[in-house]
Amino acid sequence: PRTIGVAVLGMGNVGAEVVRIITDNADDLRARVGAPVEIRGVAVRDLGRPRKIAQELLTDDPASLVARDDVDIVVELMGGIDPARGLIRSALESGKSVVTANKALLAEYTGELATAAAEAKVDLYFEAAVAGAIPVIRPLMQSLAGDTVERVNGIVNGTTNFILSAMDETGADYADTLAEAGRLGYAEADPTADVEGYDAAAKAAILASIAFHTRVTAADVHREGISSVTAADLVAAKKFDCTIKLLSICERVRDASGAQRISARVYPALIPLTHPLATVNGAFNAVVVEAENAGRLMFYGQGAGGSPTASAVLGDMVMAARNRVHGGRGPLESTYASLPVAPIDDV
Ligand code: HSE
Repeated sequence: PRTIGVAVLGMGNVGAEVVRIITDNADDLRARVGAPVEIRGVAVRDLGRPRKIAQELLTDDPASLVARDDVDIVVELMGGIDPARGLIRSALESGKSVVTANKALLAEYTGELATAAAEAKVDLYFEAAVAGAIPVIRPLMQSLAGDTVERVNGIVNGTTNFILSAMDETGADYADTLAEAGRLGYAEADPTADVEGYDAAAKAAILASIAFHTRVTAADVHREGISSVTAADLVAAKKFDCTIKLLSICERVRDASGAQRISARVYPALIPLTHPLATVNGAFNAVVVEAENAGRLMFYGQGAGGSPTASAVLGDMVMAARNRVHGGRGPLESTYASLPVAPIDDV
């Protein structure tokens, strides 16, 4: 069988792990795909930085790498809207499969990118964009494709869950705990996207879009972060046998006439200690799905970090590679119902 060529865009924590696993597990991947998988190139911003990869594979010209004839799959791990959006579009339009972990991009442009993938009849996968290693996109898109999802609730940001869990455990205040999260490498140098709920809102938009077969963008998600949660709030919560978690809540709501709308919101919520999400501590994530026929399903695990996120990327890459070798295509959200998004005070 022919070789599957892979272009990796971005070599941060996740990109470096993806490159390492493709290299270290070449024999297993070849057996699972049915053809050898080879990295054709890795696009980076700074060519001068020392990296654990053959220098000739590195390029600072992602557009030329994407355009190469021997590239079958583009793995986009650069993050941000531009230039990722244009690179993914040109990959799809030239018949390449795309795997991306880019939650900010998907939260705005899932519709545009899914349409481009459907038109080109290629795969677009993004399991790693929500909750790192935890399989949640594929279960929603495939395993539950015949069910009606009513609700997807979860803890989808590891940084804020680490901070709230540590405040709960130690009684320390928010600022000290945030600083500790930075020292341990959980919080970014600029932790705004995490602590103000933007990261979770982007993930909520993606989950709601997939779960309810509609298009929800980050701007549709009601968002509050955790920066005003105090140690006293957590003490008060405990007195009522509760705790506080930054929850992403996506649900189908029906009015008296039966008309359906979607509600998507992210905020620090008081939940009883008996709730399954109350036991999710540290930097872990969990997602609870409620579907009409399946009932309640819970997914739990590592929602961030190089290797866990790379695991989800590699899963997508293997699926896309198999489809290219054996024919076939993964699930596509090319057609969808347009359900309106309910304002927060209507829910
Ligand atoms: N900053 C994110 C988190 C990384 O803390 O969960 C994974 O998307």
